[in-house]
Amino acid sequence: MNGSLFKLAPANEPERQYYFIEAASTLRAEKEKEIGRPITFHVTTFGCQMNARDSEKMTGILSQIGFDETDSEKDADIVLFNTCTIRDNANQKFYGHLGSLSGKNALKSGRIVIVCGCMVQEKECVERLKKSYGFVKIIFGTHNIYKLAELLCAHLDSGERIVDVWDKPGDIVEDIPSVRKYPFKSGVNIMFGCNNYCTYCIVPYVRGNERSREADEILRECAHLANDGVKEVMLLGQNVNSYGNNKEGFMTFPQLLKEVEKIDGIERIRFMTSHPKDLSDELIKVMKESAKICRHIHLPLQSGSTRILKAMNRRYTKEQYLELALRIRREIPDISITTDIIVGFPGETSEDVDETIDVIRKVRFDGAFTFVYSPRTGTPAAVMEGRPDEEWIRREFDRVLSAVQEESKAMAGRFLGRVESVLTEEINEKDEGYLTGRMGNNLMVHFPGDPSMIGKIVNVRLDECRGFYYMGEMV
Ligand code: 5AD
Ligand code: SF4
Repeated sequence: MNGSLFKLAPANEPERQYYFIEAASTLRAEKEKEIGRPITFHVTTFGCQMNARDSEKMTGILSQIGFDETDSEKDADIVLFNTCTIRDNANQKFYGHLGSLSGKNALKSGRIVIVCGCMVQEKECVERLKKSYGFVKIIFGTHNIYKLAELLCAHLDSGERIVDVWDKPGDIVEDIPSVRKYPFKSGVNIMFGCNNYCTYCIVPYVRGNERSREADEILRECAHLANDGVKEVMLLGQNVNSYGNNKEGFMTFPQLLKEVEKIDGIERIRFMTSHPKDLSDELIKVMKESAKICRHIHLPLQSGSTRILKAMNRRYTKEQYLELALRIRREIPDISITTDIIVGFPGETSEDVDETIDVIRKVRFDGAFTFVYSPRTGTPAAVMEGRPDEEWIRREFDRVLSAVQEESKAMAGRFLGRVESVLTEEINEKDEGYLTGRMGNNLMVHFPGDPSMIGKIVNVRLDECRGFYYMGEMV
């Protein structure tokens, strides 16, 4: 190896990264020759769809370098962790996981352990990794994942531990390789970061301010995916309804949806996540008229109490949320509405939880993720007074969960006997003669079929509802 590697590197992106991919590939080939076998890698992803998409990009980079992807985290030569820090249990889970990898095993085999993603954007995490996890060789955050090949070269070149965490996002870098987890569906980033600063949430601090991708780039990516056999795209952003808000000359989110709809080959369009305060009439209209946009909207409620919503800085009231959700139900009767709810926010009382349950009963959510509030260092809510005690939280959480489960079970049953179009995703885990697919409304159905159907959209009659999923038959 020689130091000139970095001197010769182009300054522009993405050319610079392709240069380092090439350089890493040469180093890989030399090493493989020396050890007489391929070098393998494994990527473990925690957290949301954003992270999943980032991991696909990093998998793309490692594959392009020529490393072999393996299913076994334990045996891989390069182990990459893409972390999440949305709640403290996400952090604890990760440290536990990392701890189980450590010790002699990790050191002996000369593996390269890489940690990146949201947790790394927190100073305490970097300190802890540096201090207690010496076997982690490359550390970077959320803003420079596209530089994986360069960071890898820097480590290989110097043999040193590389830490490169940016406080702020840089430019959006396009055209980085990516390997999709599924051949038939893909996430597509339409924006990065978040400007909402809900008082409990760490996302704006670890993912930076909101930035929208150019519509042309998004549409080019969707067309390319369609060419490659992708049938379903999920447009990703922390708050897709504010797409383009921060830039002159950008189309709105509904306009973007209409453009994606025009792409031949794309048969289904999903998006995630919608902030209720920014959801426009135009969006409802476009969804209603569309043949491709799935009948599903994830509309995080967080709380049904206007007082708590205010403390959360959500910028809508209980009544405004109800009006919106019920209007969506009226306009698009088949739609599935799912949500996120937090229990145990500072100052929350049982009366506030009653308000949340009232919304659950009125909207009749098709599904809901319920979370216990987790204080995140640096967020305003972390220093608010009046955190409910654990026993209260357990009790109130159970009340919310029961309400959610009752409603979503009843809602799931409403499609019985219907024929729905289903994207076949995989062989059933429990019975190989069965396939598992997803309807537009995000419900799963299991039906007899063979693996050649995977990735195809088929019509399935829904014969039996078993709680939150169906058994059916292709027709
Ligand atoms: N504590 C608990 N839940 C949280 N969420 C975000 N931040 C926190 C936190 N500090 C939940 C919200 C959000 C979902 C992705 O995670 O409900 O919609
Ligand atoms: Fe967090 Fe609120 Fe942004 Fe969602 S909208 S990522 S909850 S700050």
